[in-house]
Amino acid sequence: MISSVIGLQYGDEGKGKFTDYLMKDNDTVIRFNGGANAGHTIEFSGKQYIVHLIPSGIFLNKWCLIGNNCVLDPIDFNKELDYIKNCGFSSDKLKIGSSVSIVCPFHKEMDKYFEENSSLHLGTTRRGIGYAYADKCRRIGLRMEDVFLSDDQIFDKYYNCCYANKINFPEEYNNKKIYDDAYDFVNEFKKLKKYVCNVTDFMIDHQNDNILFEGAQSTQLDITWGEYPFVTSSNCLAQEALVSVGIRKNIDKVFGISKIYTTRVGTGPFITKMDDETDEKVRNIGHEFGATTGRKRKCGWLDLVALKRSCVLNGVTDLCLVKTDVFNAFEIVKVCIGYKSLKDDSILNRTPYTFEYNDLIPIYQEFPGWKNETDPNLTDVVNFIENYTNTSIRFISYGADRDKLIER
Ligand code: IMP
Ligand code: MG
Repeated sequence: MISSVIGLQYGDEGKGKFTDYLMKDNDTVIRFNGGANAGHTIEFSGKQYIVHLIPSGIFLNKWCLIGNNCVLDPIDFNKELDYIKNCGFSSDKLKIGSSVSIVCPFHKEMDKYFEENSSLHLGTTRRGIGYAYADKCRRIGLRMEDVFLSDDQIFDKYYNCCYANKINFPEEYNNKKIYDDAYDFVNEFKKLKKYVCNVTDFMIDHQNDNILFEGAQSTQLDITWGEYPFVTSSNCLAQEALVSVGIRKNIDKVFGISKIYTTRVGTGPFITKMDDETDEKVRNIGHEFGATTGRKRKCGWLDLVALKRSCVLNGVTDLCLVKTDVFNAFEIVKVCIGYKSLKDDSILNRTPYTFEYNDLIPIYQEFPGWKNETDPNLTDVVNFIENYTNTSIRFISYGADRDKLIER
């Protein structure tokens, strides 16, 4: 059986918890997109763990693969490996696809520089993600397989790519820093040799396994299907999982994860954003601060128009509604069921081409709040979401810990 865990909003839906929960039925977990821009938080036995690129399956000693459409920063990755080791877990069953593209130190410099100086900045995680993917598409980037070249050859490739980008470097990023970074980079890169694998061989060896694909970022951040340009640089949809490992099979189960509200980091339109007071309240109760950057996440009401589209885009079979406990003790809970145009009062119940230049305001349906996960008021909202999205809600999560989960 092949399953995938996919975020249906702007990331940070709590995919890590589901991956962890579903792992008991799987032998192998595969990350298929993005890089260390993700932050997957997992809690069990009273402890919290955060991984960025290493699949969450590492905590259960499952086979873990980083698929070929990911990007990997060797310096950050070695730090993550140390973290895993220091927490007492083994990385013996961890593999990295040989075609994985590499994030170099100068990619991060460029990301940071652009974010700090351009009016077009996106509020990225500054992990160099977009720049590494750009060099992949320009066909000048390094890949994991280059680790088997001689040191001289690796330096050559590194400098070729580096100097092709030089026009975008900040002034302070001088030759000395470039050389120091190159040296550090090659050192760290070479440590990863033993993890590299041929993904096709891996998939043949694991063809009878139950496989779980772990999505990063989310549908509304997808480079093509998200709210471009306020998106990440990879494809985040369920079907991309197969491309990242080069197989053509059905994904039997697509677990789509959505919070009962919406959060967003970075810039871009956010039509259902709550008023400042409610936003602050939800952020504090829901601990809505970035796992990777520590940034405040903006909070908004659940947008059912967007959620329905995300369910369709991914072919969601099982909707998972999380963080319902954040609204325990709320008097009123709202969900957005359409948009109204301020230009001509027309009503829209589909996602517009763009929110950017449209004068749209959300239309809300209000529900009375609930006290806990068994309160019928919550059931009413759950049924409403199911009907609206035409997708069955399979799980309701009401707390961070592994066992705070209702399976329906
Ligand atoms: P990048 O992926 O770092 O280039 O950032 C591009 C956009 O995606 C920014 O708005 C980020 O805040 C957002 N983003 C990237 N990764 C995540 C994530 O794991 N959770 C939430 N937002 C993310
Ligand atoms: Mg996250």
